[in-house]
Amino acid sequence: MVVSLVVGALWAMLPAYVPNNAAVLAGGGRPIDAGRTLGNRRLLGAGKTWRGTVVGTLTGTLLALALNAVNDPLSAVVGVELARFPLRVGFSLAFGAMAGDVGASFLKRRTGRERGAAFPGVDQLDFVVGALALTLLVAPAWFAATFTPPRLVVVVVATPLLHVLTNVGAYLLGLKTEPW
Ligand code: CTP
Ligand code: MG
Repeated sequence: MVVSLVVGALWAMLPAYVPNNAAVLAGGGRPIDAGRTLGNRRLLGAGKTWRGTVVGTLTGTLLALALNAVNDPLSAVVGVELARFPLRVGFSLAFGAMAGDVGASFLKRRTGRERGAAFPGVDQLDFVVGALALTLLVAPAWFAATFTPPRLVVVVVATPLLHVLTNVGAYLLGLKTEPW
């Protein structure tokens, strides 16, 4: 059924969805690149900080554990066998999402985009690629059992929509300086 497919897919991605938003709220302080440049551009830029990255990773990992705690009652309510997150999977989804976003900033700077500039497509999927790739490496069997091909299609189609909606929301609330 389509609803259970979508619910099951998005549930499994929740620990990867939350870190970037937590980083927006927590960001600030020392940039990861410490101001270093490559060519005449910043290596990553002032928008990628240690605090944002650490808080984002911790938030996503803790969320995965919290989701495990409510798995049984929620699975019963929605009638879907929701994924459980081993600790290393919670971490790989969360840290992979942050790392994908950092990688995208590296690409943005190399392609002449200033901090905050939009990079359509990359902005919406960088963290998905990072989270899925790291989780595939860290827990291949869990990945294969959880991210079935139909669920992967749902993730790749629905994530950009969710990303656009949450970022426009954060912008309207004054939490973010650009709506992407
Ligand atoms: N942030 C952070 N650390 C991260 C990611 C995000 O501190 N690893 C915080 C920063 O305050 C950043 C804000 O979240 O400005 C918004 O994140 P994002 O849109 O990813 O960064 P940008 O500032 O737009 O920079 P870039 O162009 O490099 O994406
Ligand atoms: Mg941005």
